[in-house]
Amino acid sequence: MKTPLLTTGLNGLVGGRFALDFDQTYQFDNLDLRDPSQPTDITDYDQVSKRFEASLATHVIHLAAYTDVTGAWQETDNKNGLAYQVNVVGTENIVKAAQATNKHIIYISTAYVFDGEKPEMYTEEDVPNPIEWYGKTKWLAEEVVKKSTTPWTILRIDQPFRSDPFEKIDTVHRIIKGIQEGTLYPQFTNHFFGPTYVNDFGKVLDFVVRVSPTGIFHASSGESWSDFEFAKLINDKLQLGGVIKESDLDAYLAKSERPYQRNTAMSSRNLKKNLDFGQKTISEAIGEVTV
Ligand SMILES: NC(=O)c1ccc[n+]([C@@H]2O[C@H](COP(=O)([O-])OP(=O)(O)OC[C@H]3O[C@@H](n4cnc5c(N)ncnc54)[C@H](OP(=O)(O)O)[C@@H]3O)[C@@H](O)[C@H]2O)c1
Repeated sequence: MKTPLLTTGLNGLVGGRFALDFDQTYQFDNLDLRDPSQPTDITDYDQVSKRFEASLATHVIHLAAYTDVTGAWQETDNKNGLAYQVNVVGTENIVKAAQATNKHIIYISTAYVFDGEKPEMYTEEDVPNPIEWYGKTKWLAEEVVKKSTTPWTILRIDQPFRSDPFEKIDTVHRIIKGIQEGTLYPQFTNHFFGPTYVNDFGKVLDFVVRVSPTGIFHASSGESWSDFEFAKLINDKLQLGGVIKESDLDAYLAKSERPYQRNTAMSSRNLKKNLDFGQKTISEAIGEVTV
């Protein structure tokens, strides 16, 4: 028998892959604006509440978000803007409904809660200090989740990529396309991040539903890559035959208005030591990517 599971954002880049891979495990009940039979806007508490009241699920995985970082930056400090409304007000509604129906909240957050100035990998003990509006709204939402009286888990990820191409293009497929079309920008040698293999992250979501660990966990790969080395890995591993050129983040930042985190790589040691399955290395994961 399938386990009932409440979700938001199941049609997105991350949630879509989880839905495909765990279709036989979970009876998904997804709160989605585009649902033809019961469209649900998470910024509307009454709509959210009705769906929670009707569900037998013990857990809710909350993935829905306004994820356009540049779009969010253009709304900085605007609490009526979509970024704040979806990310903060939407999360307040999910938490309120979860408390009213006693459900465990699994909130998906981002490494953009950090300022990116730490030279080493970020750990769960590091204090968030978002430098742009998307990161700030996701951090404010974390704070809402942390006050929940029902059990909660926050999973922070960074630069998620799937094995398969998706309508919203991910970092890896963007690099592949750029190499194939000869349009790839020179890649920063001094910007670092921690890619997240979405296929494996789906297994983490399943683990959290099964085992219910609580607190904040970094759930990216636990590896640190520069843009340049990452693009070279993709080029070599998938034998694309491109030429990857180097560029300098400092030169870019001198001209860019939007703040940009220099380093978002996170240590995922705390989560990994608890997992009951193995995860692929980033190099192995890239080997599974299809175009
Ligand atoms: N992508 C990244 O680089 C990244 C990095 C770190 C963390 N994350 C986090 O990971 C999670 C998933 O990201 P993603 O890239 O999979 O997102 P995505 O592809 O942009 O999908 C976002 C989802 O949210 C839904 N949504 C937006 N507004 C809504 C509303 N008012 N009511 C109900 N649903 C709404 C969308 O529904 P529709 O399909 O109907 O529009 C969509 O399914 C997010 O919480 C994000 O902050 C993402």
